[in-house]
Amino acid sequence: MKFRLFSTCFCFLDKISPKTVVYTLKEELLKKILKRYLPYIKEYKFEYFLVLIGITFTVSATTATAHIMKPLMDEMFIEKKEEMLYMIPFGLVGIYFFKSAGRYIQSVFMNYIGQHIVTRFREILLEKIINLDMTFLYLNRSGELISRVTNDIERIRYFVSNMLPELFRESLTVVALVGYVIYLNPLLAFYSLVVLPVVVYPILLIGKKLKKYSRRSQEKNADVVSRLTEVFNNSEIIKANATQRFELDRFSVQNWQFFKINMKSVYVGDIVSPMMEIVGALGLAAVIFVGGREVYDGRMSVGEFTAFITAVGLVFQPIRRISSIYSKIQDAVAASERVFELLDRENRIIDGVKVLEDDIKHVEFRHVKLKYDDSYALDDVSVEIKQGENIALVGDSGGGKSTFINMLLRFYDPTSGEVLVNGTNIKEFTQDSLKHHISLVTQRIYIFQDALAANVAYGQEVDEKRVIEALKLADAYDFVASLENGIYTKMEEFGSNLSGGQRQRVAIARAIYKHASLLLFDEATSALDNESEKRIQNALHEYTKDKITITIAHRLSTIESADKILVVQKGKIIASGKHGELLESCDVYQRLAGRFKS
Ligand SMILES: Nc1ncnc2c1ncn2[C@@H]1O[C@H](COP(=O)(O)OP(=O)(O)OP(=O)(O)O)[C@@H](O)[C@H]1O
Ligand SMILES: [Mg+2]
Repeated sequence: MKFRLFSTCFCFLDKISPKTVVYTLKEELLKKILKRYLPYIKEYKFEYFLVLIGITFTVSATTATAHIMKPLMDEMFIEKKEEMLYMIPFGLVGIYFFKSAGRYIQSVFMNYIGQHIVTRFREILLEKIINLDMTFLYLNRSGELISRVTNDIERIRYFVSNMLPELFRESLTVVALVGYVIYLNPLLAFYSLVVLPVVVYPILLIGKKLKKYSRRSQEKNADVVSRLTEVFNNSEIIKANATQRFELDRFSVQNWQFFKINMKSVYVGDIVSPMMEIVGALGLAAVIFVGGREVYDGRMSVGEFTAFITAVGLVFQPIRRISSIYSKIQDAVAASERVFELLDRENRIIDGVKVLEDDIKHVEFRHVKLKYDDSYALDDVSVEIKQGENIALVGDSGGGKSTFINMLLRFYDPTSGEVLVNGTNIKEFTQDSLKHHISLVTQRIYIFQDALAANVAYGQEVDEKRVIEALKLADAYDFVASLENGIYTKMEEFGSNLSGGQRQRVAIARAIYKHASLLLFDEATSALDNESEKRIQNALHEYTKDKITITIAHRLSTIESADKILVVQKGKIIASGKHGELLESCDVYQRLAGRFKS
């Protein structure tokens, strides 16, 4: 059933099989997708009703355009009735007035529905994505996700606001005109419309082909956006290595693939319209041949014939539109599938129901194992940490230190074993309440495009006094005070208007501002000089007295004062104790300590 890809547009015709048609029909009735939209569509009843009124105006006016041909020919030209000279132009203007008013109402409300749905969908989608598991967010390129929230949704907008009403309008026009044609002359109607069913089949096939191309086009779009985001995010390293050409070439490959796939759907999709044109011509030819004879034989007036041929001419226009909409719908169907795929994703990390109200006073890892893909990042880790303790994690790179911290934030759930807070498995707590009590300074620093104060108070009300206090503890106040707008200085994207160390200190201030009872510092002072680090340490000493602090560090000065040091190697805690004890008892620690000093 699967089609091979063809580079030319005509080859699909020799691939016709009954099986395909059944499959196509089933798929392309769009039932599934329409069902998904129904709840949204229902909310716009009033707007759709107005669209319907607009459509009724337009359809009636279109049919009237054909009908006016009869008096135009018979009464005005043949019978030469004087009053018709006034009535027909007047009537025509009236008809077009109705048609235009109808179109305007229709267009305004169609767009209203479309814009409104897209705006909501963007929020729904962002809410969904941002709440998905960290695993998902790590694995999916930001460009890919951006493309879903922008491009795919735009294609859906086109579907709900343009295609759906248009489809309805054109179908109604067809019904009205066909009714009119049959009313005028059933025999002639039969001859003119008999050609129509012939085209249904190829159109179905084209639709299927197009859906495939649309999906590819959307995927390619995601690739292109991903490349772009990567280039813009990494501009510094690109410039430093003078790899602009290299990046351009890489981009160019994706970009032209995108072009090719889009052209493929143009080749196939745009065949529908000319095909319908030819069919229309065949219909008209039949009418002229058969109808002409009727007029010659006096069975039909010239006016009737003209009205008839106008109606038939008019009927092919909406049919052409319907078939081309039908093929374009494939695009929306493919986009919808991608969007709904995302909306249907289930999180593996399930939120608990208990609200953690008390401060975190006790943290315990009980035989915790965590498997990424096929290797263990944590392998049977058991440890207990109490209020007031200051724990340091040391170990070789890739040992599992950051993973240890991530477990407390439920970025991952243990493959086996338990993580407990205040004696309760953290899976039982709501994530919001759990995280309310935890402050994290990550290995990579995140700064938002907002005022510096808002970055420190991130997610909470800005309290000027508290911001300054936090900045002071983080040894950042001196440099912040020297900025032109002080704590209200606007941060650029990624905090690019700060130095690396300054950024790090803002991040520490953010962690302090939160007044959480569990502080997690993942190499939070790696970009700072020894002096600054010492100052922060001294300041924090008092601040963290009644809190739990877990610090990951590669520098001896950071960890020497810890209450307990855990040596993490290949996912296991191989030793723990104070600096002095470990220096004596642990080979690995000795080696690490030697390296820390240098
Ligand atoms: N999201 C992930 N998916 C798969 N593997 C991962 C993921 N994150 C980390 N790992 C792997 O887990 C192991 C532990 O990583 P982790 O980041 O915890 O190390 P670390 O001790 O913090 O190292 P460093 O000191 O370099 O920061 C590494 O081997 C790493 O490759
Ligand atoms: Mg790490």
